Amino acid sequence: MASAQEEIGRRRTFAIISHPDAGKTTLTEKLLLFGGAIQTAGAVKSNKITKTAASDFMEIERQRGISVATSVMVFEYQGKQINLLDTPGHKDFAEDTYRTLTAVDSVILVVDSVKGVETQTERLMEVCRMRDTPVIVFVNKMDLEGRDGFDILDELETKLSIKVQPLSWPISKGFSFKGVYKLYDKSINLFASNKTKVEENIVHIEDLNDPILDELAGQYANELRQDVELISNVYDPFDVEAYKAGKLAPVFFGSAMNNFGVRELLEKFIEIAPTPRSRETETREVDPTEAKFSGFVFKIHANIDPRHRDRIAFLRVCSGKFERNKFYKHVRLAKEFKYPNPVTFMAQAKSTIDEAYPGDVVGLYDTGNFKIGDTLTEGENMMFKGIPSFSPEIFKELVNRDPMKTKQLDKGIRQLTEEGVAQVFFQEPGSRKIVGTVGELQFEVIKYRLENEYGAKCIFEPKSYYKACWITTTDPAKLAEFLRIKGNNIVKDKEDRDVFLAPSQFMLDMEKQNYPELSFHFTSELDA
Ligand code: G4P
Repeated sequence: MASAQEEIGRRRTFAIISHPDAGKTTLTEKLLLFGGAIQTAGAVKSNKITKTAASDFMEIERQRGISVATSVMVFEYQGKQINLLDTPGHKDFAEDTYRTLTAVDSVILVVDSVKGVETQTERLMEVCRMRDTPVIVFVNKMDLEGRDGFDILDELETKLSIKVQPLSWPISKGFSFKGVYKLYDKSINLFASNKTKVEENIVHIEDLNDPILDELAGQYANELRQDVELISNVYDPFDVEAYKAGKLAPVFFGSAMNNFGVRELLEKFIEIAPTPRSRETETREVDPTEAKFSGFVFKIHANIDPRHRDRIAFLRVCSGKFERNKFYKHVRLAKEFKYPNPVTFMAQAKSTIDEAYPGDVVGLYDTGNFKIGDTLTEGENMMFKGIPSFSPEIFKELVNRDPMKTKQLDKGIRQLTEEGVAQVFFQEPGSRKIVGTVGELQFEVIKYRLENEYGAKCIFEPKSYYKACWITTTDPAKLAEFLRIKGNNIVKDKEDRDVFLAPSQFMLDMEKQNYPELSFHFTSELDA
């Protein structure tokens, strides 16, 4: 039997992230195909929420259901256990993605070679930078007439604010795309349009002056020679430690749809990607090799069948060994619980597990005890850090339409916000509830679920706030003054922290000038 140390060393826990449509779902599927987790392309519909008809709630629910099954995809590749955490493709669910990023050790960022770095790519990268998460970039859709390789590298570096370094290099693009030259092992992977198979045609070329290159790449052979020379002058040998520290992002080129460049991405990934890393709690750092179990909940998913109110809480194991039926301390509630049916996920199937190691994600059936961010331990009182709330983009006041159902409405909105569907802020007097989300779709989901699962009726009244800003200061008197004067725009978050709902960027800038003693933050993780 493998030791705990060996189990940890075999694990690679990561997420694929991208702006919608860059190819995340396609790449996920191709990786599963390589890992043998699925046999045919198209077998897995990833966690992709596509908005069909404007108010097709059942469709949203159905898709949410699918996303439970694909929340974590576990497969083996060359003796390594790959835990691929899925993230929703729909931008309205970006907050879910941000939270999932707290549970991974690295990410693969997919960029569309035609569109380059898009808004969501930049946001996601900001979240990665907050924690120095190692990033590998996969430039996808090289079979299309996209941008030039150097242009893409420039754009990645400036827009993502990270140093990048190509590990493979495209030979032409679009119609005349010939393949990629693997800079790290001096071989050419020749492009062939191939949507279902996983073979690749690799030719080793020790010396780029070898005439065989002219045969393979035709008129593009010289261009490749020049590009490679330029690259070798500009870049030092690849520094894997800089990558692991989140300071340098290696870049690969390929075409997920054509299964091209995916194997080399996966192989390099398992070679360089970090094994489960240590994690900060509010009191100390926890190393994965510690003997005692600890873990935290980063996502909660409601059962899609409204007759069953139970939920699945997704727990990332951070240290020790998680065991079925063993009592663990729920630190926030200061209570011991055991879990008779913890589940793991294999492509589409869920199965019960007996044990799990650092890097693994276990699904725990929950009847309402968990909130996002909760920690389980073998007794120690510590809470893992790093599950911040980000400022919502859209704010609406929740107005109760059925006074007989006030309790149900309160319970419903509390549980939905615990699941992370939205954030709720409370405003005195009258405990008004302002709901904040990153997309319109969530309001539809909330309204639908409040009605169907809790029997409560509500409407949403739009509020034109710009951002929610968490406030900190070293000058309590100034803070008290600000809270008093700005009363109309001051709310409390669920942890009872003061939040200023800034009406506009302009007004926020004014307040910053008027109150230099105060700091305004767009995330609740205030030291970030
Ligand atoms: P996402 O999860 O990031 O949102 O993207 P997804 O994989 O769904 O890909 C978005 C679209 O881009 C899909 O086309 C997909 O087939 C296409 N695509 C992915 N990889 C490549 C590639 O390497 N080359 C080219 N040319 N296209 C690629 P679609 O028309 O929206 O959907 P579908 O009908 O093809 O599934």
